[in-house]
Amino acid sequence: VAGVSTERRGGNEPGRAARRRKLVFVGFMGAGKSRAARRAAERLGGEALDTDKLLEAELGEPIASFFDREGEAAFREREEALVLSALERSSPVLALGGGALVSERVRERLEPHLCVYVDVDADLAWERSQDSDRPLARDRDAFVRLHAERRPLYESVAQAALPARPEGVEESALEAAITFADARAPASVRMIWASASGGGYPVYSGPGALDAVGALWPVRGRCFTVADETVHALHGERLERTLAAGPGAAATITVAPGERQKSLAEAERVLRALARAGMERSDALVALGGGVLGDLAGLCAALYQRGVPVVHVPTSIVAQVDSAYGGKTGVDLPEGKNYVGAFHQPAAVFTDPLLLSTLPVEELRAGYGEVLKTALIAGGPLLERVRALEPIERALELVPDRLGEVIEGCLRAKIAVVAEDERDRGVRASLNLGHTFAHALETATEYSAYRHGEAVAIGLVVALSMSERKLGLNDSVREEVVALLRENGLPTTFSGASTEELLTVAARDKKRRGGASNFVLLRSPGDVATECDVSEQELSAVIEEVRER
Ligand SMILES: NC(=O)c1ccc[n+]([C@@H]2O[C@H](COP(=O)([O-])OP(=O)(O)OC[C@H]3O[C@@H](n4cnc5c(N)ncnc54)[C@H](O)[C@@H]3O)[C@@H](O)[C@H]2O)c1
Repeated sequence: VAGVSTERRGGNEPGRAARRRKLVFVGFMGAGKSRAARRAAERLGGEALDTDKLLEAELGEPIASFFDREGEAAFREREEALVLSALERSSPVLALGGGALVSERVRERLEPHLCVYVDVDADLAWERSQDSDRPLARDRDAFVRLHAERRPLYESVAQAALPARPEGVEESALEAAITFADARAPASVRMIWASASGGGYPVYSGPGALDAVGALWPVRGRCFTVADETVHALHGERLERTLAAGPGAAATITVAPGERQKSLAEAERVLRALARAGMERSDALVALGGGVLGDLAGLCAALYQRGVPVVHVPTSIVAQVDSAYGGKTGVDLPEGKNYVGAFHQPAAVFTDPLLLSTLPVEELRAGYGEVLKTALIAGGPLLERVRALEPIERALELVPDRLGEVIEGCLRAKIAVVAEDERDRGVRASLNLGHTFAHALETATEYSAYRHGEAVAIGLVVALSMSERKLGLNDSVREEVVALLRENGLPTTFSGASTEELLTVAARDKKRRGGASNFVLLRSPGDVATECDVSEQELSAVIEEVRER
């Protein structure tokens, strides 16, 4: 792999080598930055600088003893000077100490470089740091607090985020970070690595991500586009333009909008169109559209000649916060939603919030249902950000950056859950908060009365009400959720399906899971209980409560 160089700087400029675009690994202590930096440097053919090590050499004593004797402020001063001088050296890769980003001058000087955040959870970080003589790793509670405090700092500075794992950062993730640094995507686009069996994939998120598809195209072979008809009319040209800079567009197949297209008949039509267009196993598919298109095209990619890579370009909020990640693809049967499907992880996802500007207001609102669901599951700072957001249509107009941050927060939460449980055997079920009822309502009303996000909104009210009965959830949570849903123009009661119908569909869904309890409830925001047993009587009582009067 060639070195990473900035195009902006002239080749004859003195000190050019010192100013090449570097990969700078940042993150909390114990993340494995030094090791990742060494491996990246090997690939780039250079040396990795480790600022903690350099600092110890310069101090002539361990960091801990200097820190204890002189105090944190004196330590940060020395650290700042050392990091600034290390950035002037010609090494292509650096690993910074966990606290180095606290310095504003350091953050400023990192701007021309690619900061790569190695994202470690507090447990793994503690396990690795507790016996290491690090001055800030002596008390577990303080350590966990500092970990939570620093996270937004790393996230705000880094343009790429790779998950730390006990065995080190994945090779393919490192490779993608190097390619990303080379490709010079706009600074507004970030790369977030999603772990998955079979290698994982990059998620490129931020304004302008769509225009980077060609430059960051992740696979070989030609590209076949499957697009929602409405979305294609609005954004197809932009996609074609960027594809021209990459694999080119071999053929485009459009699909009429609407949940009713999530059918086996439509899947067959798309598959046959791909075959007629001459798609081969070595080619790839790009899916442009909302959740319906993504689920349908993803299934076609899983099935076509036993599987071709799929790149998702999600264009609705539901798709940008949820459906494009995690590899669940599928279509509906009249008997049940998502009854036919396959797990097929994407090769990459390009999430561009600018695409939302053409989304009809009802769809924006429906998307808010999934946003609030994700925030309730994650709790913490994401929930705070969602609470503080203006109603969604105004947020898109007035504070697009903050909406973009919320979308990114939701997608990070989703890929973190999926990474723990790709095949949906445990914790991934938490993502179904509100969905047991939502799916029953969608099926009982033949997929035509409610948008998915609207059904999820009502499903959330059902799940929270049930959580109060079964787990003692404070009723203020439901009251706040109902108020937020209403502010965002979403329904909080339903009509158009009898309780018997809903119970029958819910029972069938349970049977499909081998009789396993499938209700997902909330103990408190951020604390989800999966596999909760709910009797027919209990469900029926809550359904009556949420029925429109
Ligand atoms: N696979 C998963 O993990 C997963 C997760 C959540 C939801 N889903 C599925 O997602 C589907 C719902 O997705 P959805 O809400 O995106 O619905 P959708 O795909 O039907 O899109 C909603 C509408 O918005 C239009 N649209 C989309 N993007 C647009 C844009 N940028 N500008 C203008 N119009 C645009 C579409 O043409 C459509 O009419 C459901 O079928 C649901 O089951 C899947």
